[in-house]
Formats: sequence, C-alpha cells, structure tokens
Amino acid sequence: MKFTVAIDGPAAAGKGTISRAVAEEFGFAYLDSGLLYRATGVKALEDGRGVIDPANAEGLAANLLQTDLDRNDLRTALAGQAASKVAAMPEVRAALLEFQQNYARRDGGAVLDGRDIGTVICPEAEVKIYVTASNEIRAERRYKELVQAKPDLTVTQVLNDIRVRDDRDAARDVSPMRAADDALLLDTSKLSIGEAVLQAITAVRSCLK
Ligand code: C5P
Repeated sequence: MKFTVAIDGPAAAGKGTISRAVAEEFGFAYLDSGLLYRATGVKALEDGRGVIDPANAEGLAANLLQTDLDRNDLRTALAGQAASKVAAMPEVRAALLEFQQNYARRDGGAVLDGRDIGTVICPEAEVKIYVTASNEIRAERRYKELVQAKPDLTVTQVLNDIRVRDDRDAARDVSPMRAADDALLLDTSKLSIGEAVLQAITAVRSCLK
C-alpha cells in the first residue's frame, strides 16, 4: 500500500512531534526531511571553514550517508541557519529530490515533514497538513528544547532565528515554504500536544477509510 502523509510548516510549529505520533499510530515510516538540509549545511560549513560554497553543497547533498543524519549537532540554531541557506540552492534541492520522492511512495505508508512535501516532493500525497503556530509560541517551544544545552540562550534570540529562517524559506525562488491548496491548516498555538496529534490522526484516519 502506498499512502503518504505530507506535513509542512514553519520552524518549531510542532511538525516533528505530530509526524512521529502519526507514523507510530499507523505503522508508517517517518522522514524528517529537515535533517537532509541540516546535514548538508553543517558539512558545507565545515568544508568551507564557515563559508558555504554552493558548488560543494550540491555534491554533499547528493552523497549524504546515514551517519551524516545521525550526527548529534544537527539540532542547533547554527545548523538550522546553514540548512536554510543550502535549502535555497536549486542544485541542493534537486540532489535531494529523488530520495524523498521514493521515500514518500514506499510500500507500507510514509510520513514526511518539511516545507515543500505537499507542494513539490509529493503533490499526490493522500493527506497534507500545514502546521503553524504564532511566532511567540514557536520561539518559546524551541527555546525550551535548546536552553539546556545552551544556558545563555534567550527567547528573543530564538525568535529572531526563527524569523530569519522562515523569511528565507518563504521567499526563496525554488520550492518556497507554503501550504498546498488542499492542505488542512492546523494552528497549534492554543492546542496541547495531545490535541494537535489527535486532529492530525483523525484527518489521516478519515482518508484511510
Ligand atoms: O525542519 P527543520 O527546521 O529541521 O528544517 C531546517 C531547514 O531546512 C529549514 O529552515 C528549511 O530551510 C530547510 N528545509 C527545506 N525543505 C524541507 C525541509 C527543510 O527547505 N522539506
């Protein structure tokens, strides 16, 4: 059975939590597509000693290994910014396209989260959900995730980081972040995790019938 759940939306809106829960509920595979861009961005930064060379980034994206995705430094703000820079490069996106498309249409069902899953990677996805939340709520949530590893972090810094990234992701020419026309909009600003997950699971269940 092929069944794709595409979950898109801006940074720290809750896509990962919802995606993992949906995948678990239905026994689907789960791909966090942001990790592909984060791994490419971090490697490109390392290779260029802090400066990303687009010509190099394409090759890195095309040759990512599982070990690159398993690195424990991909969740930082630095990795997020590097990801968003390489993600604006058409060659990098092209290099990552086929892997994601094959993942989406694998047998047994798949959940993918990202920015362009429902619009570009898998427009034929059976379920498309666009997850949002207010900037302040997203910043607060991401702050709580990051502050332990970085005690001098402030919510304002996280808010700025999210804004810069969202603006770049929404404004780029190639595969900009946007909701597919037929996506269900899920604003998690006033929802608990359980409520948001339940709405997503209900949407998937009604399409599976
Ligand atoms: O989802 P996450 O915050 O980990 O994504 C990191 C960055 O990767 C995003 O800010 C975006 O620039 C890029 N990305 C993308 N398309 C995707 C997933 C992530 O452009 N499908």
